[in-house]
Formats: sequence, C-alpha cells, structure tokens
Amino acid sequence: MQFIDLAAQQKKIRTSIDRRISQVLDHGKYIMGPEVFELEEMLAEYVGVPHCISCASGTDALLMALMALDIQPGDEVITVPYTWISTAEVIALLRAKPVFVDVQPNTFNMDPNHIEAAITPRTRAIMPVGIYGQCADMTRINAIAERHGIPVIEDGAQCFGATHQGRRSCNLSLIGCTSFFPSKPLGCYGDGGAIFTADDDLADRMRQIRIHGQKVKHQHPLVGINGRLDTLQAAILLEKFVLFPEECEARARIGRRYDTLLADIPGITTPVIAPGNTSVYAQYTILAKDRDALSATLKSRDIPSVAYYTSPLHLQGAFSDLNHKPGDFPVSEHVASHCLSLPMSPYLTQTDQETVKRGLTPYHTTL
Ligand SMILES: Cc1ncc(COP(=O)(O)O)c(C=O)c1O
Repeated sequence: MQFIDLAAQQKKIRTSIDRRISQVLDHGKYIMGPEVFELEEMLAEYVGVPHCISCASGTDALLMALMALDIQPGDEVITVPYTWISTAEVIALLRAKPVFVDVQPNTFNMDPNHIEAAITPRTRAIMPVGIYGQCADMTRINAIAERHGIPVIEDGAQCFGATHQGRRSCNLSLIGCTSFFPSKPLGCYGDGGAIFTADDDLADRMRQIRIHGQKVKHQHPLVGINGRLDTLQAAILLEKFVLFPEECEARARIGRRYDTLLADIPGITTPVIAPGNTSVYAQYTILAKDRDALSATLKSRDIPSVAYYTSPLHLQGAFSDLNHKPGDFPVSEHVASHCLSLPMSPYLTQTDQETVKRGLTPYHTTL
C-alpha cells in the first residue's frame, strides 16, 4: 500500500497528459504559454474569484502575497506554529516577524480566541492555514481582522477544494494561496502554486511581482521574483483538474469511512471536521496516545504512516531569534507529538482501509 497513491490517478489520465505535454513541446512556449492562462481562467472560475495568478510554488504564492501587501522589515504577521515551514519562512524572508498563535486542539487550525491578544500596532496581516485539508475558522478570523483593519491571507496549500460555509478555500479572504506540490489534493508533476483574489490592484501587483516586478518589457517599477508556473506544469494540471471534483468527493467518502472503521480503537482520536466545513483530507491525521508505538506497529505490518511537523515552528532553529521555549504553544506541541497521518488518496480502497484498521489493532493491546 502506498502512503499517497499518485500512480493510480496517472493511469487514468496518462494518455491525455501525454497529449497535453506533446502540445507544449510542439508550440514551444515553455514560459507563460497558453496553458498557463487557460489554467488560471479555469481555476478562477472554480474558486469563484476574478483573479488567479499561477506561480512557481505555494511558497512563492505566500511570498508574493506578502510582497504585494508591502510587508516591511519589523512588521508583524500573525500565523500558527503548527504548519509546514513555508508559512512563517516567507514572513522572515521579508525581515518581518512571525507572531505565532496556538491552534485548536480538535482541528489543529488557528484558534481565533488567541488572535486579538497577538495584535499590536505593527500587525500587518493574519495568515491562517487550512491544515490537513480543512479551512481554518475563516468566518471568525475575518471578523476579528476586519475590526482591526488587517488583511487576511489564507494559506490554502493543503485545503484547495475544501469549503467553509459553502465557499471554496482561496475565496474566503482578501488573498488565498495554494500549492500544486505533487502530493497536494491538486498536484502537478513538480513545483507549482497559485494565488487568488478579487482585488484588481493586488492582482496587478502580484502579476508584476511574479515577473521580476515587470509591467511592460524591461520596465520594473517594483522589485519582484522569478515566480512563474512552467507551461508544462500548467498543461499537466489542466488534465488533472478534470478529475479533481470527483477526487474531492472520493476523499470525503474515504475520510468518513476511516472515521467509521477507526471509531472503536482505543488510544486514538480521529479527525474532527468543524461544522460548516468540508475537508479534502490532504492527510487523514489521527492523534495517538503513544504515536511512536503506533507507527512502529504499522511499520511492522508494511503499512506506511507519517508524523508531520513533529517540531513546531516556534521551536525550530530558523526562528530562534523569537526566543520561544517549550510550553509557549501547548496545543501545537501536543499535536506535534501525537499526530500520525495514515495512507490517504482518492484511490484508496475499502480493502486498504480495512488493512490499516487491522494494522492498528495490535497497538491497542499494548496500551
Ligand atoms: C501549509 C503549507 N503552506 C505552504 C506550503 C508550500 O508549498 P510549496 O511546497 O508548493 O512551496 C505547503 C507545502 O507543503 C504547505 O503544506
């Protein structure tokens, strides 16, 4: 069994992907070719916002969003310590300060109860993450941000396709960012990402920043980056997107089946999807009383599992200048030491899931 089965999907669409790749090789427009614009139009419509700016990675999407908001050295951006490093890394890259707030114990997403206390006169943005496939509580986060006049950037790298109160991820705040890293719910065959916004001026700035701050050829009114999505990756995404809506449904179905199968196993907690949310289960992540025993049990039965973000960002050397210590964000630390992600993909079979369940069974006898 694969942890994430990318091959099953490729088998279904290999011919059309080969055709799309051949078309790019034939026209030869490897940078900003027609597939890039076709993809942007399609994704903007899917998300429900006027602008999609495709880019080279989810990390670049977040970086360009912050650059477009003119985040300066010493500015503060509120985010979470329980996430992939990119979320806070891009803040530090601009010499701004990541200000961490703890996550909720059930969804592992930003806890809106902690935001207000973290806001200072230097706060310039709030950047919640939709970890493991479901959006943060964007309704409450937006309400707090609005009261203080602070823009919200959604890091939707893991929750593209998920909904919050009936609206899609990346259409929930001023700017939404996502990643097309291969293992993401919508992944390409390399690095890729996208930014979404309804704000015309910001979209214009981000399009410029994506191409070295260039507005017309050889004119650079802004400092930018080389942040373009390759035409080949856009071509691959166009074909993968054909399957995406049904894959999101399959992910939800498989998530529910895990919930039922694993409900009675002592010593583990299955994921909680908040009311008003749907999840695309980028990962199916449980909390285990003894995570290391559980993963060893699974390994002995050839069942793959991964513990993500075992050291939260406030305890990483990269952010040592923030002078945090263990205990500063207890929920993040608890999740980091108890989480375990199980095999997940839209092509995971019921038999596979029953095998995972059986694999977990010797674990509880050791508790
Ligand atoms: C929450 C989160 N933010 C940002 C990123 C960055 O995306 P990329 O790897 O495409 O740069 C990722 C990817 O792993 C992620 O999971």
